[in-house]
Amino acid sequence: MCGIVGIVGRGPVAPLIVDALKRLEYRGYDSAGVATIDDGQMERRRAEGKLVNLEKKLQAEPLAGRIGIGHTRWATHGVPNETNAHPHFSTDVAIVHNGIIENFAELRAELIADGYVFASQTDTEVVAHLISRELKRGSEPVEAAHKAIRRLEGAFALAIIFPSHDDLIVAARNGPPLAVGHGDGEMFLGSDAVALSPFTDAITYLEDGDWAAIQRNGVTIYDIDGREIERPQTKARSTSFMVDKGNHRHFMEKEIHEQPEVIGHTLAHYLDFVEGRTRDIPLPFDFSQIDRLSISACGTAFLAGSVARYWFERYARLPVDIDVGSEFRYREMPISPNSAALFISQSGETADTLASLRYCRSQGVPIAAVVNVPESTIARESDAIFPTLAGPEIGVASTKAFTCQLAVLAALAVRAGVQRGHVSPEQERELVRFLSEAPRFATAALKLDDQIEKLARELSQVKHALYLGRGTSFPLAMEGALKLKEISYIHAEGYAAGELKHGPIALIDENMPVIVIAPHDRNFDKTVSNMQEVAARGGRIILITDTEGARRATINAMETIILPDVPEIIAPIVYALPIQMLAYFTAVFMGTDVDQPRNLAKSVTVE
Ligand code: F6R
Repeated sequence: MCGIVGIVGRGPVAPLIVDALKRLEYRGYDSAGVATIDDGQMERRRAEGKLVNLEKKLQAEPLAGRIGIGHTRWATHGVPNETNAHPHFSTDVAIVHNGIIENFAELRAELIADGYVFASQTDTEVVAHLISRELKRGSEPVEAAHKAIRRLEGAFALAIIFPSHDDLIVAARNGPPLAVGHGDGEMFLGSDAVALSPFTDAITYLEDGDWAAIQRNGVTIYDIDGREIERPQTKARSTSFMVDKGNHRHFMEKEIHEQPEVIGHTLAHYLDFVEGRTRDIPLPFDFSQIDRLSISACGTAFLAGSVARYWFERYARLPVDIDVGSEFRYREMPISPNSAALFISQSGETADTLASLRYCRSQGVPIAAVVNVPESTIARESDAIFPTLAGPEIGVASTKAFTCQLAVLAALAVRAGVQRGHVSPEQERELVRFLSEAPRFATAALKLDDQIEKLARELSQVKHALYLGRGTSFPLAMEGALKLKEISYIHAEGYAAGELKHGPIALIDENMPVIVIAPHDRNFDKTVSNMQEVAARGGRIILITDTEGARRATINAMETIILPDVPEIIAPIVYALPIQMLAYFTAVFMGTDVDQPRNLAKSVTVE
């Protein structure tokens, strides 16, 4: 992860670098730093923790200089303290890095043997010393950087400056994204175009293996062998608008409340509500011509894909393989020529999802992606993208991106059903009508906030919680557990309700809250039986169901959250809201940092 920035500007750059870093804080917030060159001298300010700590330092001790680099860190090698904060220095060079240098131990040993002394525990510092050694051996900065980059294995996005050169940033990309921004007599570099949006919308994206020399009057891009190459300049669609919390305490709360609107907006992109039809979206494959769909994603996006598996199999009779990106990429799965691959990612930058995509690309299958950031690497490397129109999601815990992913996937599954001849025009009309009701029911779910807040007060007292569900409620149970643990730090697990008796039931006692997600659907009676098993062992059941489910469940639940009766296809979308709210209010009672929970980052560009 980590976010990097570089500016070769016309005036003082440190305030601009901080401004850009604010837009990259979603990539990590363990520490931050800026280095500039002024009058041939390089200087830096670094601070542990969030960017605001760095800002305070810079206010007390400002940095002059018309060229500089900046970094916001998500720690990989070395604890998140100031010593390990970037930029890292060696003689005559300063560097910021996003990624992991896999051969750093070997390079470090080599440099130590050569007399280099390491100030930090980071993998990044080896790159600074490698470049410095090349400079000492007589190479010019660009050549020195190139020679060092050739020695690196692993994933990296780098920005490098040299005190001897007031008009040069060397950038390199292998894995994590890098955008070069073109200005008028000034140039910019950032981990994404959004970071650069206050300065320019003229962007050139570096490709994997590219490295570049950036000067005030332009950029020269090279391939790994040092041959000059051309990359197109595009106009970024990102907005420079800094999203704010409005009247909400946290971004997560705001984003939960935005859901009725953004779900509706997203669905309208894929469905013609008036005609009762799925729209004819351009696809890189015909659903009727494939016999398998392979889905890969991470975290919450993986759970959206896991819900979608039920939909594709039920409505389109299309078998689905699904795996987390970190496993898929190494599984060496034989891919049938008649299959297609689908990737799901809010950020569009997740390293494991991207690696899975590239594996599928190497196998020659058509590739589509559900993404929230249309300019992301995953979007750019796909044959077709299905955008989620959730808008920027700032809270680290995914909420509106998840329900918008579900909205897109539900629409796609119906479309697949139509193309494969398993959904008749009447059924299509009915399913489209059902989906069109999702925003209304999501609004109704939000009205349960008072009840959920009270319940969260009790939940904030526990150390462990279980979530259960069947069918599409099973991945939702896992999502509920994921949301709770990541923002409240309460240990939680999500299980298929029928799996309980195969082990986890041993955990049930009068202290264990068991949150059961059970809309009154085809699985309801089976889930009720599993609830009986919990009740018989004194477990504290929190039942999330609908009016009919509450009437039929003969369980003495500690609390029942009753949603309106909703059509089966939209239940996962609607039921996502109470589980998000439960995690949110619990975290608020626990007093955690809801929007930026510890150890996490919004965009996971390392494996
Ligand atoms: C959890 C969460 C993460 C992400 C995961 C994938 O709330 O947000 O689990 O879903 O890191 O990220 P994207 O969707 O950007 O690929």
